[in-house]
Amino acid sequence: MNKKIFVSREIFEEVLDFLATHFEVHSNQADAVLTAEELASALSDKEGAMVALTERIDEALLSRCAHLRAVCNIAVGYNNIDLAACNAHGVMATNTPGVLDDTTADFAWTLILATARRLTEAERYLRDGKWKKWELKQLLGLDVHHATLGIMGMGRIGQAVARRALGFDMEVLYHDQSRVAPEIESACRARFVSREELLGKSDIVSLHVPYSPQTHHLMGAQEISLMKKSAILINTARGGVVDDDALVEALRSGVIAGAGLDVFEREPALHPGFKELANVVLSPHIASASRNTRFKMAMKAAENLVAALTTGQPPDLLNPGVNRG
Ligand code: GLV
Repeated sequence: MNKKIFVSREIFEEVLDFLATHFEVHSNQADAVLTAEELASALSDKEGAMVALTERIDEALLSRCAHLRAVCNIAVGYNNIDLAACNAHGVMATNTPGVLDDTTADFAWTLILATARRLTEAERYLRDGKWKKWELKQLLGLDVHHATLGIMGMGRIGQAVARRALGFDMEVLYHDQSRVAPEIESACRARFVSREELLGKSDIVSLHVPYSPQTHHLMGAQEISLMKKSAILINTARGGVVDDDALVEALRSGVIAGAGLDVFEREPALHPGFKELANVVLSPHIASASRNTRFKMAMKAAENLVAALTTGQPPDLLNPGVNRG
């Protein structure tokens, strides 16, 4: 008899068809975000799950899913999954590294350019019928070319953002827990600096760190205050890396010039302060949302699930120490 699996959110039909060649598939194509109770009940008799960042996989859930052996996240970030709890319950956990780097870097650049050149503010001005005449000093923005770009987190996505800066003749600074290989530094023409130097010298600060207790509020009031008054902050990483209260206050009082944000601390809820501010460009967590990339992410999660439940060797295993019994 085929193993039972559950897909917690709507995915592409082709990926469901692929899963159906291996498993008895139960899925939530209606796409309502499930409560913890609904998720526990859906997983109570399943051996595998494909989930998204909207689902919390923790001790409380896993203690109710006696048959579960694998949880495959349709995301590269996995702060929604408690790996220690997975280990304790013999559950393999996987993510989707590698397939979304370029698309996410493209979107970080979308926010860099839109924020620096005040695109959404300009469009709103036009749509509101406020444009009456051309003016030399209208909607003046920040030059991106020849500016200094500071990248916090020089993993695959940070590097892809840095490579794109070459075309804009920028100076690229980066900070991470440690330096990347010299070949990567020279390919990206990026220089390793301290966090303080990066914040103090950059015209654009772009965040590319995973979310964890160590990166919680990495950008709080103190760190934001180290940035130039003319600088902008870009977050395509995770909500929680930035203290939204502190950022709203900094944008309101002119501590920095602007922000481009794809992720939020309490998403999908938006800090009400952001809505009132003209100097912030907002998007609903869509940095990886090209058709091709979201398809690849879903297929990679499905392939991980098939490998986990057939060979016990999923390619993107996050907890290699887990007992795969
Ligand atoms: C999206 O946010 C991801 O982590 O893949």
